[in-house]
Amino acid sequence: MAEQKPSVSTFRKMKREQKPIVMLTAYDAPTAALAVKCGVDLLLVGDSVGNTMLGYSSTIPVTMEESLHHCRAVVRGTQSNAFVIGDMPFMSYHVSEESALLNAAKFLQDAGCDAVKMEGGFDVVPLVKRMTTAGVPVCAHIGLCPQQVKVQGGYRIAGRTEDAAERLMQEALALEEAGAFMIVLECVTAPVADKISKALSIPIIGIGSGSACDGQVQVVTDILGLSGYIPKHAKRYANLAAVMEEAFTNYVEDVRSKQFPTAENAHQ
Ligand code: KIV
Repeated sequence: MAEQKPSVSTFRKMKREQKPIVMLTAYDAPTAALAVKCGVDLLLVGDSVGNTMLGYSSTIPVTMEESLHHCRAVVRGTQSNAFVIGDMPFMSYHVSEESALLNAAKFLQDAGCDAVKMEGGFDVVPLVKRMTTAGVPVCAHIGLCPQQVKVQGGYRIAGRTEDAAERLMQEALALEEAGAFMIVLECVTAPVADKISKALSIPIIGIGSGSACDGQVQVVTDILGLSGYIPKHAKRYANLAAVMEEAFTNYVEDVRSKQFPTAENAHQ
């Protein structure tokens, strides 16, 4: 019998049973299908698509249309059998609650996602409540919020001072209370992430936030060696850049030297 598609309750149960949750970003159909085949529990079509796939230098330029385009590919690639979170891009949930709700609905209705992710703490709590009430599962995202890069003047580790740690804890509790089904904690110091994971009953998914979180998320191009550099929080499980370089070089050489195509590749 085919395995049942995960739901928000699957992840809550995994937290209760202390079974680590594995999340990975995906932006295209074949990668998404492979990740799920290999046991990844849920996929995030992150706005990191901007840096990883679209050639932008940050996530700021990513548009709703670009996000939806990649979400549709991921959902198709997994034949709607995986839990897919669509990441709401910069300014798609800040203009008004109404436009935020309509944009969130596009991820569920148009792209076939199961939930949306939004960056922000206290500022998005009322919106998380409104979306959850309307039937949109929300994964919150606190700590380092890449959409704030221009205001912050760079990417900073979160939770280093007592005040910052306390604020993160209060934000996490408020987001849980508002109905978020999961929280991504990005680049939060490990002791603070540990406390937050223990204090909340919803799953806490870390990236650069230590091993005490209920699960981990990684950017797929980082673990595959396609990002050009390895961030401190990532582990490179393959060097696909080297594999691709060799393949492209061999292809170029074969065509130039007329070793490809051979008779086998030709239609008679
Ligand atoms: O956009 C993204 O890929 C993310 C993850 C880094 C959590 O937000």
